[in-house]
Amino acid sequence: MKITVVGSGYVGVVSAACLAELGNHVTCIDIDKEKVEKLSRGETTFFEPGLKELLRKNVSEGRLGASSEYYSVKDSDVVFVCVGTPSGDNGSIDLSFVKSAAGQIGEQLKESDKYIVVVVRSTVVPGTTRMLIDIIEETLGKKAGAGFGLCMVPEHLAEGSAVKDFFSPDKLIIGQYDEKSGDVLEKLLTPLRHQEIKIKNLLDPLVAGQIKEDLHTITADVMRRCSLEEAEAEKYISNAFLASKISFSNELANILENAGINYFNVRDMACLDKRIGSRFTQAGTGFGGSCFSKDVRALMKFAENGYDAFLLNAVLDRNKKQPYRLVELAKKLLGTLENKNIAVLGAAFKPNTDDLRDAPSLKIIEKLLDEGAEISVYDPKASDNLKKIFNDKISYSPTKEACIEKADICLIVTEWDEFSDEAFRDKIRCPVLDGRGFLNNAKGIGKPEV
Ligand SMILES: NC(=O)c1ccc[n+]([C@@H]2O[C@H](COP(=O)([O-])OP(=O)(O)OC[C@H]3O[C@@H](n4cnc5c(N)ncnc54)[C@H](O)[C@@H]3O)[C@@H](O)[C@H]2O)c1
Repeated sequence: MKITVVGSGYVGVVSAACLAELGNHVTCIDIDKEKVEKLSRGETTFFEPGLKELLRKNVSEGRLGASSEYYSVKDSDVVFVCVGTPSGDNGSIDLSFVKSAAGQIGEQLKESDKYIVVVVRSTVVPGTTRMLIDIIEETLGKKAGAGFGLCMVPEHLAEGSAVKDFFSPDKLIIGQYDEKSGDVLEKLLTPLRHQEIKIKNLLDPLVAGQIKEDLHTITADVMRRCSLEEAEAEKYISNAFLASKISFSNELANILENAGINYFNVRDMACLDKRIGSRFTQAGTGFGGSCFSKDVRALMKFAENGYDAFLLNAVLDRNKKQPYRLVELAKKLLGTLENKNIAVLGAAFKPNTDDLRDAPSLKIIEKLLDEGAEISVYDPKASDNLKKIFNDKISYSPTKEACIEKADICLIVTEWDEFSDEAFRDKIRCPVLDGRGFLNNAKGIGKPEV
């Protein structure tokens, strides 16, 4: 199929490169000319495992291009809208980029007789995609349904594993304006539809009775079709669940840590209960990234109308405070942080990305600076982005070994694999505080003693 992707940030570029890899012809559009130039050369503007190779390959084989103009829209079968939807005033969603993109798409559709399906991929509150119909119809002078199609397909990629997630999704949700629009998306996404899933200890006694082994591989249809509003809501429900699970785990870890009990030991036992499950129960400095906070805030605003979503508020509150716990632990160990050399290992909000949006490291570094500490940071990918924020207020170590050299204490802020390397751990002479709960034999959040 011929595809245009409007908005070439994380979501847009990953989607575009992967759709091209499936054999489609894709054009990425962005208002940022620098991004467009880089993409046209097959270069990435951010780090994501596997993306660089995918971009280079598909640009050189002629299936992927980029432009700052919207012309490719009129010749497309499907147009994805992947622009940003940041927090606006009072936490409500800012839809200005989505609306502007819809207007420009409408202008292009005017010049085409083709039936083109517009797909909202950005995270938008329920009702938004239907609202775009008015904008497109007004510009275009044609009615949705006959003149053009409309879908809402929420994006579920996780930065750091986005390419892998695209090709092996847990779910493919197609919100459709009508059957005709949904059919086009179903056809496009069919290569990803049937996923092999490993299932341990099937709970359903009916199924378990028929299958003897402990670990089963089944092929599941992960595609679901639904209304536009259900698809929009599904994304918010997912992010609210995940954010809540992290904040709730942090709450429990803090309680146990204060009582001198190791949260991780207790959690490992509690999570044997399959109703709880172990993923996203890690305690640490809290969640970061561009989505969880802004999406929970947007959901709270959406929920207003007399309803007080106080539980969601608590999820955000816990998360705002959580990074400071690591600084408090450091203070407890050293007495004061003034003029102390602090090694900060990791800055990205998670491993395998250089993304610093909403990263706990930013709050931790700011607080350490307030306390008068000397800070040296090492991150395998995010150091350049960190420099743009802190300039010469902190120092940036070229290696993890250099980072710990003069340290009075070492704070682990991102769980990059290389920080758990035994040989490296042996070189650390100062106390280590684990802010991500991934190291054996280290004190940290939820781990009062080793
Ligand atoms: N980053 C993630 O992990 C992730 C995961 C799932 C969903 N989402 C959602 O996907 C959407 C995009 O997120 P992102 O992280 O890729 O954002 P981003 O800020 O990295 O990228 C958005 C891009 O859109 C461009 N843009 C803005 N207005 C435009 C216009 N009118 N025409 C063309 N380009 C325009 C910007 O220049 C920017 O490059 C958001 O709604 C976000 O909530 C993000």
